[in-house]
Amino acid sequence: MSRVAYVNGRFVRHAEAAVHIEDRGYQLADGVYEVWAVFDGKLLDTKGHFERLQRSLGELRIPAPMSEAALKLVLAEAVRRNRVRTGLVYLQVSRGVAPRDHAFPTQPIRPSVVITAKSIDWPAAQARAASGVSVITTPETRWARCDIKTIALLPNVLAKQAAREQGAAEAWFVDELGLVTEGASSNAWIVDKDGTLRTRDLNANILRGVTRRSLIDLLADAGLTLSEAPFSVEDAKAAREAFITGAGTLVMPVVRIDGHDVDDGRPGPVATRLRDLYLRHARATAD
Ligand code: PDD
Repeated sequence: MSRVAYVNGRFVRHAEAAVHIEDRGYQLADGVYEVWAVFDGKLLDTKGHFERLQRSLGELRIPAPMSEAALKLVLAEAVRRNRVRTGLVYLQVSRGVAPRDHAFPTQPIRPSVVITAKSIDWPAAQARAASGVSVITTPETRWARCDIKTIALLPNVLAKQAAREQGAAEAWFVDELGLVTEGASSNAWIVDKDGTLRTRDLNANILRGVTRRSLIDLLADAGLTLSEAPFSVEDAKAAREAFITGAGTLVMPVVRIDGHDVDDGRPGPVATRLRDLYLRHARATAD
């Protein structure tokens, strides 16, 4: 079965799926996106991603391309048609097609909608979680609205490439005070020397991670305490554990930061337990 993509109202062969050359997403990165993890053919954390999508669209004054109910059906159909059991579904909404001009088009235009779905190698992802991943740190070079999930991702692209070239899976951005903000495509966490979980607060210039939010909701029941106090790279290197969260990685232990082992260089008990807890919760509430 060949892959299919959804483009502006139609499912088309993935290899032939295309948008117009004057799509403002293509020319100006004038658009937003969302990524859902898929398990058992169902979407995880559906509501949280929809809420953030609405917020991102609202901040950029892009009209919703269709109702949430309709969008949900199309996402589910993309998952079904691509026979994804475990994987990811990607949604991109740009302002639409118009002659190139930085300012918004004066006539109303239809937002462009693209959806792709792909399977992931779950045993390989579990193996990565069992051994943990490395991160590098890199100066925070992004704009001041990282709370909007826009497709303008060049600093994230460059950071991720630097990570890859150094054999790491993720790059953590570090602000001018030496404090970690978040990863290029994930939120950053540590378990500090006192056993307290730490992740950056939402007043900082970071994305409001949906996985981050869901995990926070599970902490109290798990008997874990959270502090949204910022942490430095030095704090992270001296931490008991580190990990990242996101739709692409779920909860993923971090075992090396800039080549320095975190604790004994193996995934810690808290991150391992939280991955398990998150997965169980997310799968039970998937739809
Ligand atoms: N990235 N921070 C950034 C900069 C991100 O791009 C992401 C997600 C996250 C985690 O958010 P969530 O838990 O809602 O997935 C944090 C997606 C997966 C991506 O760009 O592919």
